[in-house]
Amino acid sequence: RLDTALDLIAEVPDFPEPGVLFRDLTPVFGDAAAFAAVVDALAGTLDPTTELLAAIEARGFLLAAAVGYARGLGVTLIRKPGKLPSVDGRIDYALEYGTATLELPAGTVPAGSRVAVIDDVLATGGTAAATCALLGEVGAEVTGVSVVLELAGLGGRERLPAVRVHALRVR
Ligand code: PRP
Repeated sequence: RLDTALDLIAEVPDFPEPGVLFRDLTPVFGDAAAFAAVVDALAGTLDPTTELLAAIEARGFLLAAAVGYARGLGVTLIRKPGKLPSVDGRIDYALEYGTATLELPAGTVPAGSRVAVIDDVLATGGTAAATCALLGEVGAEVTGVSVVLELAGLGGRERLPAVRVHALRVR
């Protein structure tokens, strides 16, 4: 069931820039059985001590919301800049294509809390590493990074040496 679900991930050449092969999870989200299989599998990757999920904008929001509901965990939304009225941290980082900034909403992650990071794709790892750094700045302990798809050739896992990385599929 999980394999069938993951087979729905589409590959879109030259998006958002020439030379980039974009992985699109839209078909997975649109198929109820596939979405459930992926959410259940992600939930199964969580360290049992996890107290909170950190969801990375934008597709991570959708996944983490469902995983949080399934596991009885709350979610903090790691956002792109300019969306939050008040932040506890901000970080700039290099992306596979271009640069980006992420912000941590104020007051959402208590110091010492055990947080799992959820996103759709791990590519260069810049986004996940930046999220882990933001969480570390407020004194959280990252219990793992869980993604649907890891693009192995881009070194994402190597950028997260101190974190347990879980991927439902590696390509
Ligand atoms: C994609 C993906 C991850 C990130 C992975 O997000 O959803 O968050 O890139 O890349 P990295 O491992 O090289 O950092 P994108 O920037 O496309 O944002 P979106 O989800 O808001 O479309």
